[in-house]
Amino acid sequence: METKGKILVTGGAGYIGSHAVVELFEAGYEPVIVDNFVNSKETALKGIAAITQQEFPCYRIDCTDKQALQDVFRKEQDITGVIHFAAYKAVGESVKEPLKYYHNNVGSLITLLQVMEEFGVNNLVFSSSCTVYGIPDTLPVTEETPVKKANSPYGNTKQICEDILTDLANSGSSQVKTIALRYFNPIGAHSSAQIGELPLGVPNNLVPFITQTAIGIREKLTVFGNDYDTPDGSNIRDYIHVVDLAKAHVVAIDRLIQGKAKAIEMFNIGTGRGNTVLEVVNTFEKVTGQKLNYEIGPRRLGDVPAIYADVTKSTQELGFKTELGLEEALSSAWQWEVNLKNSL
Ligand code: UFG
Repeated sequence: METKGKILVTGGAGYIGSHAVVELFEAGYEPVIVDNFVNSKETALKGIAAITQQEFPCYRIDCTDKQALQDVFRKEQDITGVIHFAAYKAVGESVKEPLKYYHNNVGSLITLLQVMEEFGVNNLVFSSSCTVYGIPDTLPVTEETPVKKANSPYGNTKQICEDILTDLANSGSSQVKTIALRYFNPIGAHSSAQIGELPLGVPNNLVPFITQTAIGIREKLTVFGNDYDTPDGSNIRDYIHVVDLAKAHVVAIDRLIQGKAKAIEMFNIGTGRGNTVLEVVNTFEKVTGQKLNYEIGPRRLGDVPAIYADVTKSTQELGFKTELGLEEALSSAWQWEVNLKNSL
C-alpha cells in the first residue's frame, strides 16, 4: 500500500501518542511506535488496532538508549519524520526527582536528534507545553509572550528542549527542522472509547480525577481554590480535545514534509477559550447526567491562576483549527472511563 511516509512516534502507546497514531494512519501515514511502557500499557495497542484494524510495528525501547534507537532506524530504513511524545510529565514528581526528569526528557531528545542526523531524518514534531509561559502577564498568550522561569523541573525540561532545538536550528549545521507544539490542557478520548487516558495511581489532572470520582474510584474531587481573580474564583485553563490535539500533529508533519516549515517553529495548540474548573465540573454534570461529589479546597502550590491560548498563529500559519468542544471532550472522557470499568 502506498502511504504518505513512515512516521516514528515515540511514546506512541501513551495518551496523546496513541491518539496521534490513529490520526496519522487515517491521514495516510504509516506509524511506527516506540515506547518503554513505563507510563503506558499494552492495552493501548489493542485499542489502536481495534480502531484502525491494523497492527503497527512497536518497539519496546527507551529513547535514551542510543543503540536501541539506531536499531529501529536501521530496521525501518525509510522513516520520513518523527513525533517525539516520550517524556515524563508529572509536575510534582519532577520536583522530588529532578534528575530523573532531566535525564529522561532532555537526554532522550538529544539522543533522538543525534540518531535522526545520523540517518538523515530531518522532520521533527516536538511535544512542548504552555508551561513554558509560566504565569503570564497578559492573556491570551501568543507565541511571542515571553517565556518565564519554569516553576518545576518538568517545565524546565520543556524550556531546555525548546532551547536545544532552537540552537540546533540556528547552528546552520543541521538539516533537522522542528515544529514544537505548545499544548494547552488535553482532555477526552477517542469517540470509540477504545483509547484514552490511563493515569497510573491517583490522577494529578483534573478530568481523570473527575471521571474516577464519578465512577466511584475516588471519593470526591477537591477543587484547588475558589479565591483566584477569575469570574467564579477557580483557575482558568484552555481544555483541548485530545483528538483535535492529535490532528495538530498530522498538520505539523504535513507542513514539514511539504517543505513549508522554517528551521524551527513554535505553535500554541489550544482552543483559544478559557474555562474555569467549576465550569468544567458543571459541564461534566450536564453532559453525563452524573452528580459529582466535590468540595472546595485550598490552592495547589504552583498552579497558574489563568492561562489560555491565542490561536492566531496556529490558525493562520499552520492552518490548524479545533473542531470539538468541551462538552464532547468531557462526554468522551466519561465514555472511556465507563468502558474501562466494563473491561475489567
Ligand atoms: N484541579 C483541581 N483538582 C484536581 C486536579 C486539578 O481543582 O484534583 C485544577 C487545577 O488546580 C487546575 C486545573 O484543575 O486549575 C487543571 O489542572 P491539571 O492538573 O489537569 O492541569 P494543569 O493545568 O495544572 O497542568 C497542565 C499539564 C502540565 C503542565 C501545566 C502547565 O498537565 O503538564 O499544565 O501549567 F505543566
